Amino acid sequence: MIFNDSLFRNKNILVTGANSGLGLDVCQEISNLGGAITGVSRSIDKQIFSKQIKTVSSDLLNTVSIDFSSKDLDFEKFDKNVKYDAVFLSAGVSKVSGFVQTDEETMESMFDINVIGQLKLLRYLLKKKLVKSNASIVFMSSINGTSLGSKGHSIYAATKGALNGITMSLANELSKKRIRVNAIASGLVKTPMFIDNLRLAGEDSMKEYEKTYPLGFGTPNDVSNLAIFLLSDGARWITGQTYIIDGGHSIA
Ligand SMILES: NC(=O)c1ccc[n+]([C@@H]2O[C@H](COP(=O)([O-])OP(=O)(O)OC[C@H]3O[C@@H](n4cnc5c(N)ncnc54)[C@H](OP(=O)(O)O)[C@@H]3O)[C@@H](O)[C@H]2O)c1
Repeated sequence: MIFNDSLFRNKNILVTGANSGLGLDVCQEISNLGGAITGVSRSIDKQIFSKQIKTVSSDLLNTVSIDFSSKDLDFEKFDKNVKYDAVFLSAGVSKVSGFVQTDEETMESMFDINVIGQLKLLRYLLKKKLVKSNASIVFMSSINGTSLGSKGHSIYAATKGALNGITMSLANELSKKRIRVNAIASGLVKTPMFIDNLRLAGEDSMKEYEKTYPLGFGTPNDVSNLAIFLLSDGARWITGQTYIIDGGHSIA
């Protein structure tokens, strides 16, 4: 039995999208389990980040500001002495728009943030040997691009499908070092990203939509529990998989 309060003691975990939603929840939970977090997001000074994580364990928190939509990604900000046991890539944006109506700038920036910028970061960490043998890498994907394709989500689904694809190939490549690579394809979870969707769709249609989720929409903790399992040594025989977690939406 490996699950206890010190599951992540002496472990370094890098989390992108660390100041909000699912990334923030994973930071808080892992920090409670003894892990030292390097949190990456564009705006590291957001109230929520400093307030909620620092109260857990300020000494275990390192923050790095990287804008994945920028062409000049500065990874030299990372401490080369810290080697990671787990990497959770949660940064992402979702812009709802019909495919034909989506301008090129939006398409490119969604791919830069959701895919390219984070793959560049991961490649940098692997090249510099900052990811330990036996480490676990988890991408934050979506049911959009995995088991369904909602209207207005073509580009978003394409970015998430790309993450599912690399999950399988990279898992094979990194298996020599016993580094595992998995993805989580989540349904709708109540985070700031959800609030944006709610604003667009309106409260009534969201309530109607929630009926297609047998267990209702998720909370950040519903998903971070799965992330934490996959990031931990408890999942040492799992690699190359994309796990759907959606309150039963896909079987409704
Ligand atoms: N919530 C859902 O229903 C849901 C469902 C399926 C999948 N997901 C996926 O889960 C992940 C986390 O989503 P969430 O709901 O937690 O969203 P969220 O609360 O909106 O958080 C998004 C995170 O991404 C970071 N980010 C956005 N643009 C960035 C950029 N240019 N450079 C660096 N970081 C950037 C944000 O940091 P800044 O604030 O500093 O920009 C923030 O930390 C995303 O990949 C999303 O696609 C979410």
